Amino acid sequence: MALLQKQVCIAMRDAHYNKHSGLQHAAMSRGLKLIPELADNSVEFVRRILNSVSDGTAVEILLEDTPFNDFSSLSKTLHAEIDQPFTERQVRLFPRMIPVGFYNRIVPNQLVDLGVSWSSMNYLRTQPAFEFSLQSTAADFAAEKHEAFSSTAHQDLISFMTLRASEIREGGCLVAALGAQKPALEANYERTIEEVEKVLHMPSISKFWSAEVLEPELIEHPAWAEYQATCESAGTDQVKKENARREYAQSAILNLVSSSGWFWLDILKTHRGPRWDGGDDFLENLVQDSVQEWIKNFPNLKMETWYIYLRARRHADD
Ligand SMILES: C[S@@+](CC[C@H](N)C(=O)[O-])C[C@H]1O[C@@H](n2cnc3c(N)ncnc32)[C@H](O)[C@@H]1O
Repeated sequence: MALLQKQVCIAMRDAHYNKHSGLQHAAMSRGLKLIPELADNSVEFVRRILNSVSDGTAVEILLEDTPFNDFSSLSKTLHAEIDQPFTERQVRLFPRMIPVGFYNRIVPNQLVDLGVSWSSMNYLRTQPAFEFSLQSTAADFAAEKHEAFSSTAHQDLISFMTLRASEIREGGCLVAALGAQKPALEANYERTIEEVEKVLHMPSISKFWSAEVLEPELIEHPAWAEYQATCESAGTDQVKKENARREYAQSAILNLVSSSGWFWLDILKTHRGPRWDGGDDFLENLVQDSVQEWIKNFPNLKMETWYIYLRARRHADD
C-alpha cells in the first residue's frame, strides 16, 4: 500500500493562534539578538526595526503566509501595535500581505534586506509519500516514514534557501528559528542541526549563503516560569497552587491546539465531509479533556522545545 503525496493546507487556528503563541513568542524573542545592526510575536520584531531607522524613513514590510492564513487578524495587529506610534517620527510603514507559500517565489529579485522566519520552516511543502506494506513491522514503518520525511525536508530546505537567495539582496540576511523536536504531525518535520548544516554546506547553497550563526537552544514556554513563581509565592495555599496548575496546563494545551488544530480538522473533514461545521466544538472539547489529562498525569511537565537559530548572510555570487 502506498500513501499518496498530498498538498497540505497549513494555517494556524485563526485568531486563537495570536492569543496562545507564547512559546513561539519566546522563540522569536531569543532570535532578536541575531538581527544584525539592531539591537515579541513578530510584531515586536517589526517595532525594533522601525525604532532603528531614522526619522522620515519609508519601510516596506512584506508579510507572507499560506493563502489559508488569517490575514485579517494579522493586519489588525499590525495596525494597532505599530502603525500609530510611528506617525510622529514620520516613519512610514508600507505593509504588504502576500498569500503565497514560501516554497514559491514571493517577491521580485533582490527586493529584501532582511528575511525572517520564526517557527515555520518545519512545515513541509507536501506530505511525503512513502511505501509500506501490511506485513511491515512498526519499526519498519517508522524507519520508512522517517526516511521519506527527512528526504522531503532536505529537498524543501534546498528550495527554501535557493528561492530566498533570489529575493534577498547581496549583503542582506536571513534570520530564522527552526523547530528542532522529534517529528509530531504529518507534513511537519523538525530537522536536526546536522541536517541543516548538510544543506548549508552544499555548493549550490554555499555559493549564495554564509552561515554566520547556527546554534541550538532549548526554549521554555513563559507560562512555566509564571507557574513556578505562583507556586512558590502560594506557600501552603493549595487552592492557589491548583489554580496555577490549571492555568499552566491550559496555556500549554492551547498552544499545542492553536498550532495543530488545522491538522485535526482536516482529517475530520475528510471523514465527515466538507460541510461538517463541528470544528470549534471538537477543538473546545479536545482542549478541556487534554487539560484534565495534563493535570492528572503530568502536572509538573515543563513545556520546552529545541530550536535551531540561523543567521545566513547573502554574499555576492561566487
Ligand atoms: C507556528 S506558526 C508561526 C507564526 C509566526 N511566525 C510566529 O512566530 O508566531 C507557523 C506559520 O507558518 C505558516 N506556514 C506553514 N507552511 C508555510 C508555507 N509553506 N509558506 C508560508 N507559510 C507557511 C503557517 O501558516 C503559520 O502561520
